[in-house]
Amino acid sequence: MQDHPDAAQDSQSPVLATRVGRVGLLTLNRPRQLNALNDALMDRLGADLLALDADDAVGAIVLTGGPKVFAAGADIAAMAEWTYIDVYRSDFITRNWETLRRVRKPVLAAVAGYALGGGCELALACDIVVAAQSARFAVPEIKLAMMPGAGGTQRLPRAIGKAKAMDMCLSGRMLTADEADRYGLVSRVVPDDMLLDETLALATAIAGFSGPALMAIKESVNRAYESSLAEGLLFERRELHARFASKDAHEGMDAFLGKRRPVVVHR
Ligand code: HXC
Repeated sequence: MQDHPDAAQDSQSPVLATRVGRVGLLTLNRPRQLNALNDALMDRLGADLLALDADDAVGAIVLTGGPKVFAAGADIAAMAEWTYIDVYRSDFITRNWETLRRVRKPVLAAVAGYALGGGCELALACDIVVAAQSARFAVPEIKLAMMPGAGGTQRLPRAIGKAKAMDMCLSGRMLTADEADRYGLVSRVVPDDMLLDETLALATAIAGFSGPALMAIKESVNRAYESSLAEGLLFERRELHARFASKDAHEGMDAFLGKRRPVVVHR
C-alpha cells in the first residue's frame, strides 16, 4: 500500500487515505465515536474523494469503516445544539456530504457492522455496496424524532421499494446483511474476514477497465433515477454512440477479435 499524496496521513485524521494499485482506499477513522459523521470528517472525505477522482493513477475508490462499525450516523453530539438557522446558513448535508455525488469514478462501499442513519445513507450513495455478514443497516432517526436527511427517504425507495423503505424509515427497523442483500440494498455479501480483500479485488478489476467507459456507464445508470424511460434510453444511446469515439473501445473489440488482451489507455 502506498499513501495517497494528497491526504493528511496522521493517525488522528478522521479519514485515512491510501492507494492499493489503481484503487484509492478511504477508511473512516473516528473509532471512539463509532465513526459518527461530523463536519471535519465529511470535509476530509469530500477533499479525499475529489483528489482521488482527479488522480489519473486511480480507477476506482473504496470507502470503508472499521470491523465493527461502518458509521453510526451523523454526529448526534455535534447536532444536538444546532438551530434551524445554523443548518440553513451552513447548508448542512448539501455543503459537504454531497461531494460524493460529484465523483465520476466508481465508488464501492465495504461495510462491516453498523451502517446507521447517515452511515447507511453514505453507503447507499456509493455505486456498489459490498457487505460483510456482520453488516447491519438502519435509518433509526425516528427514534431521535429526526429523519433521514442525506438521501435515505429518496434512495431507499428507489433501491428497495416503498414497502421496505417505509418500514425502515418509520420504524427504524434494522436489516441484517442477508436481508439487505435480498431486498437489493447491497450488491453482495461476503464473510467478514474477506470484506476488504473481496472489495479491493472487485475494485481492482473495475479499475482495470477503460476509465471513460466506466464513467459513461455510471452516468447512464444514475440517469435511470432522474429521468423517464424514454429520456434514459436516449441518454444511454448517446453515451453508447460516444464509445465509438474512444480508442479503448476500438482496441477492446480489436483485441477480442485478435484473441489477445486489450491494452487500455483510458482514452
Ligand atoms: C455521536 C455517537 C453516535 C452518533 C455512537 N456514538 N453513535 N456519537 N453520534 N451517531 C458514541 C456514543 O455516544 C458513545 O460515546 C460511543 O459512540 C459508543 O457508543 P455506544 O452507544 O456506547 O455503543 P454501543 O452500546 O455498542 O451501541 C452502538 C450503537 C449506538 C447501536 C451504534 O451507539 C447507537 O444507537 N448510536 C446512534 C445511532 C443513530 O441514532 N444514528 C443516527 C444518527 S442521526 P461515549 O462518549 O459515551 O463513549 C443521523 C441523521 C442523518 O444520522 C440526517 C442527516 C445525515
